[in-house]
Amino acid sequence: MSTSEPNTTATPTFPMERTCPLAPPDEYQRMRATAPVVRAALPNGAPVWAVTRHAEARQILSDPRISSNTGRPERPRGPDDDRPDDGFFVDMDPPEHSRFRRLLISELGARPMDALRPALQRVADTAIDEVLEAGAPADLVGSYARRFPARVLCALFGIPAGDHEFFESRLRMLSVTSMDPSVAAQASRDVRGYLRELIRSAEREPHKGMIRRLAAKHLPTGELTTDELINIGFLLLLAGYDSPANTISLGVLTLLRHPAQLAALRADSSLLPGAIEELLRFHSVQDWVSFDRIATADMEIGSARIRAGDRLTVLAASANRDERAFENPDEFDIRRSAHHHVAFGYGIHQCIGRNLARAELQIAFGTLLARIPTLRLAVGFEELPFADDAPFFGLHAMPVAW
Ligand code: HEM
Repeated sequence: MSTSEPNTTATPTFPMERTCPLAPPDEYQRMRATAPVVRAALPNGAPVWAVTRHAEARQILSDPRISSNTGRPERPRGPDDDRPDDGFFVDMDPPEHSRFRRLLISELGARPMDALRPALQRVADTAIDEVLEAGAPADLVGSYARRFPARVLCALFGIPAGDHEFFESRLRMLSVTSMDPSVAAQASRDVRGYLRELIRSAEREPHKGMIRRLAAKHLPTGELTTDELINIGFLLLLAGYDSPANTISLGVLTLLRHPAQLAALRADSSLLPGAIEELLRFHSVQDWVSFDRIATADMEIGSARIRAGDRLTVLAASANRDERAFENPDEFDIRRSAHHHVAFGYGIHQCIGRNLARAELQIAFGTLLARIPTLRLAVGFEELPFADDAPFFGLHAMPVAW
């Protein structure tokens, strides 16, 4: 990394502290005011360029000279320590990356996700039935915010009801919010073994769920190997669990703290899609950890002289609060047009699960608000256990009553 600039202040180091759990670290605001790309340090002290503003976040995420293939030494690797790299396409560059995206797009596009909506609605209704049956107080994180995305993944993969508990428990163990490396390694082996069996069963039931469909379609032609498909499935499970779960729990909390907007949303469900975009923007649950990049060429952005080999990370939580892109960015407003947020990233790695995420979030919030209209926190806001020690910000638990 270039050392041409004098280092006058202490280098901001990840993870940075939050003063309010519902806002990014204050340091982000300071860095964003300083420059679009600033020097920072990873938790191990390694230097990294942090991209703070919205326009430059998009620029970096769509620049072919910026690679996702970093080897990720700092990334928490517990769940996938033993992973072979084939098929884990989030870490790949074109052309390998494009090959996997192309194969998956027919399964995760807007149309197949619309077709999945009735199944997702049944999943949400069952989860709410269980919450109501167990009675108040309930932990909304365990009983809904995490359970619902886990069962959505079961619906997507065509996992039979008898195996849902197995899947839910393994996803909990793999979750970055409560990661214990040895527990996660065992869960990783269990899930991979299960996916291998699922792929084997594609010969008998080729249409049941996306993994079997992909197996039936692409294994015989040699477009995918079994190991690649196992890794694709594993990546979808990792990527598709924590982020919706954290968006649901932080989102419910945010709505409870904005009662007028909550009431408006209950009265007019056409506000729901816009409210989901605003929740995605406002919380940006995937931040610096998710955007690990490396420059493959020298370049200048603002005053930053980036050299080939330098590490970069995009602060989605800062870009989504950039006053150049959003008016009154720190205000939560379900009526604003937030669609240009970068909570799903941007460019070739933009979240391939975003159609599913939008459908499941709309159904998760719509169902909860309609079926438990008197939902309230059962403890004070200050007592809530926020997961500020985890790579993805979220909540460990959220006691509610109604
Ligand atoms: C609130 C929900 C979600 C959020 C905020 C979110 C956010 C993101 C972000 C920021 C990226 C880009 C990472 C990068 O540029 O390196 C990403 C990629 C990805 N997401 Fe999501 N995601 C969500 C839900 C899901 C779901 C439900 C799935 C699948 C079931 C999923 C699967 C993936 C995959 C496979 C990638 C890698 C794409 C690639 O590298 O081409 N995500 N997501």
